[in-house]
Amino acid sequence: MTTPDAPVPGPGILTIAPYVAGESATEGANTVTKLSANENPHGPSEKARDAVRRVAEEMQLYPESDHLGLRSAIGEVHGLDPARIVCGAGSDELISLLCNAYAGQGREVIYTEHGFAMYPISALASGATPVKVAECARHADVAAILAAVTEATGIVFLANPNNPTGTMVSDTALKTLAEGLPRHVMLVLDGAYAEYVPGYDGGAALVDAHPNVVMTRTFSKLYGLGGLRVGWMYAQPGIIDVMNRMRGPFNVSSAGLAAAEAAMRDRAWVEHCRMENETWRAFLTEELRAIGLPTDDSQANFVLPEFPSEAMAKAADARLRAHGIIVRAVGGYGLPRHLRITVGDEVACRRVVAILKEFMEQPA
Ligand SMILES: Cc1ncc(COP(=O)(O)O)c(C=O)c1O
Repeated sequence: MTTPDAPVPGPGILTIAPYVAGESATEGANTVTKLSANENPHGPSEKARDAVRRVAEEMQLYPESDHLGLRSAIGEVHGLDPARIVCGAGSDELISLLCNAYAGQGREVIYTEHGFAMYPISALASGATPVKVAECARHADVAAILAAVTEATGIVFLANPNNPTGTMVSDTALKTLAEGLPRHVMLVLDGAYAEYVPGYDGGAALVDAHPNVVMTRTFSKLYGLGGLRVGWMYAQPGIIDVMNRMRGPFNVSSAGLAAAEAAMRDRAWVEHCRMENETWRAFLTEELRAIGLPTDDSQANFVLPEFPSEAMAKAADARLRAHGIIVRAVGGYGLPRHLRITVGDEVACRRVVAILKEFMEQPA
C-alpha cells in the first residue's frame, strides 16, 4: 500500500454534497423578506431577549455543562423526566452525534425520499451508507421503510411533520413503524416542527414505550432562536448516557441556554406564534390553490406549492426575488417543480400571493 502524501478523509466524506442553507440576500433588492429557512417571522419571546441581555454581562464564563436549568424547564412544560433529556447545538448536532454513535462504517441509515438533507450528510460523515426510501405522493410510506430494513440498518430518521413537504405520518402509522422495527434499529422521530401541531407529543409516548425510539426537537423554528443553536432530545437512559459521553462539555452556549429556558417557559408567546402560523398558513394554502398552484395541507410553518413545470417554478422563484422575497427552491430534495415558502407575517404572505397571482396570469 502506498502512503498518501496528504491527509485523507474517512470513507464516504468526499461524496457528501454540502448542505445548502436558505439564502438571505438577493441582488438588486434593498429590503429582503427571507422566507427560505422556516424561521419565525415574529422572532423570539421578549423574555428570551432579556435573558440574553443578562448573560451578556458574564460572557467570560463557560456555560453550565449539565444544562440542568434548560432540561428542567423542558421537563416541566412537556411532562418529561429531565434526566432523559440531552441538549445540543441545534438538533443538527444531535442528529450528527446519533449517527456517530449508532451508525458508522458498515451500517445503513434509512431516510425518506424528500427527507431532511442532514440525515444523509450525517450518515456519510459517520462512515455509514444512507438508504433513501420512496415516499407516496410526498407522504412517508411506513411499509416501504420497514421493507428497507436490513441487518445492517442502524438508524431510521423520520421528520414528523416532514421538511420540505410539511406532511405528517398518522399516530397509527407511527405506532406500526415503532412496533415493526427490529430492536437493534434506532428510530429517530425528528420533531423540529412538532410545536406547530396542536396535541402532538412529537413521539414522546413512543420513546417511553420503545427502548429504540428517540425524539429530537429544536428551538430554531417556533421558538425563534435559530441563531443561537439549541436543540434537545428525549430517549431512554442508555442512549442518554451514550450522548453525554460523546457531546462536548460546553456544546450549548450560555446565551443559548438562557434564551431557550426563558422561551420554553413563555407559553403565551408560543401559543401566539402558533396561532399566527395557523392563520397565515391557511391563507397561503387557499390562495395558492385558487391561483392554480396545487398545495398539500402542511402541518408545519411552510407551504410547498407545485408549479406546472420546473421552468415555471424557476421563473416564479426569480419573480419573487425581483420583489425582494427569497423562498426555497427544493430541486435538491427531488422536488424541482415545487417551491418551499415559509409562512411569514401577514404583510409577507399577502405580498407572496399578490406576486404569484400576477405571475400565474403573466408568467413571461
Ligand atoms: C426536519 C428538520 N430537522 C432538524 C433541523 C435542524 O434544526 P436545528 O439544527 O436548527 O435545530 C431542521 C432545520 O431546518 C429541520 O427542518
